[in-house]
Amino acid sequence: MRSKIVAGNWKMNKNLSETKALLEELSEKLPATEAEVIVAPTFVNLADSSRMLKSSKIKVAAQNMHFAENGAYTGEISADMLLNIDVDLVIIGHSERRAYFGETDELLSKKVKAALAKNMRVIFCFGEELEERKAGNHFSVVESQLKNGLFDLPAEAWQHIVLAYEPVWAIGTGETASPEQAQEMHAFIRKTITDAYNASIANEVSILYGGSVKPSNAREIFSKQDVDGGLIGGAALVADNFISIIQAI
Ligand code: PGA
Repeated sequence: MRSKIVAGNWKMNKNLSETKALLEELSEKLPATEAEVIVAPTFVNLADSSRMLKSSKIKVAAQNMHFAENGAYTGEISADMLLNIDVDLVIIGHSERRAYFGETDELLSKKVKAALAKNMRVIFCFGEELEERKAGNHFSVVESQLKNGLFDLPAEAWQHIVLAYEPVWAIGTGETASPEQAQEMHAFIRKTITDAYNASIANEVSILYGGSVKPSNAREIFSKQDVDGGLIGGAALVADNFISIIQAI
């Protein structure tokens, strides 16, 4: 369902004691909000985070998972392992996974299907690189990432999908897409989903913007009609910043 969401992707940051301290501070300062608030700590701290937030409004997501049920995949984590620690949300397709770990559309599509098969919710990330935007190819890149990653899913699957448009040139660079650029792409994404499925699926899916969202720009970005929230990296690592971003929604 189309809800407002603020999700923090902690990436490879925060050891166990830092994780606990940040979660405690977030829990203490969390404002009353209708938005869904999600944090994605690193795998090794996921079980503790999940336990700490058991009766909290803050939900826990994994940053990645493997598509196989189990088996000889050294270093990998399965959906069942996540579910076993009460984590039923997973980020799939982050640009860092695509760029540094060679994750292709084809692999991501398998991961999405594996997560959905276990009734997990997926935050699916995609977005163009700087060169692609400069060349004017950003719409076609995004369209093909959506098509290859998601468009063979049955219509019912979409209620378990959250989209996160993250232009690669805006991630961790301090450079944010303008609210107008974000709105333009989010509207394009809804149109693309309308064409592939129908308007009701397109209007129901939450589309987050990600890429250098911070307290100073969150309100303006979130004010755009097709932006339903944010996937936050750096600013999610400081409680007061993340809280301000939640307040902005
Ligand atoms: P950033 O990261 O907010 O640090 O740019 C966003 C993300 O990678 O999800």
